[in-house]
Amino acid sequence: MRRSRLFILITLLVIGLFLSLAFGQTLTATAKYGKPKIDAEMDEVWKNAEEYITDRYVQGEKGKVAYAKFRVLWDEESIYVWAEVYDSLLNKDSTNPWEQDSLEIFVDEGNEKATSYDKNDAQYRVNFENVQSYGTNASRDYFVTATKKTDFGYIVEAQVKMRTRKLNEGDVIGFDVQVNDADRFGSRVGIIAWNETENENWRNPSYLGNLKLVK
Ligand code: BGC
Ligand code: CA
Ligand code: CA
Repeated sequence: MRRSRLFILITLLVIGLFLSLAFGQTLTATAKYGKPKIDAEMDEVWKNAEEYITDRYVQGEKGKVAYAKFRVLWDEESIYVWAEVYDSLLNKDSTNPWEQDSLEIFVDEGNEKATSYDKNDAQYRVNFENVQSYGTNASRDYFVTATKKTDFGYIVEAQVKMRTRKLNEGDVIGFDVQVNDADRFGSRVGIIAWNETENENWRNPSYLGNLKLVK
């Protein structure tokens, strides 16, 4: 009896370890309190924000496709994202905005991690030339962006306004960042996310990571 329980326990642990390695654990990032000016220039307020990297290669191989280093801030009305996208060849030829060189931001204001979009989830996208596009529940009313080309790729500075609630210190919302990498023919060769691993964020917010709001 005891032995068989131990066996089951070990089996479950091994399966759990395998699943977390294969699919990636849900990550939690920290956003500091502050409001930047959205102009693609780094102001002081960004300097004490933690830096994160999109390191989950949903499509494409590390070292061969683009990725981003990013930081997040928050205030009562919005979250703010500063992203430096490392992309050596910029292309926006595709008629599908998600196949252009672009950055996506996903927000679940209630962090329910539901398997389909509810009212407080939204998907935002902006390409390297600051052309925005919107997935479920997103619109220009809630998205303020600036971009700038650099020698390594491009910078995105974005404000995502909350649609359903005010934010408070200590809150945890659902959040993810995705880089889309187009090649010179205009086809997407890279999908690189901070948290997710399956290209499901756009229709399944349970794949988003967590963003903790601190002061
Ligand atoms: C996904 C695409 C999807 C699109 C829809 C993107 O985040 O990577 O595969 O078609 O969202 O908006
Ligand atoms: Ca939700
Ligand atoms: Ca590219």
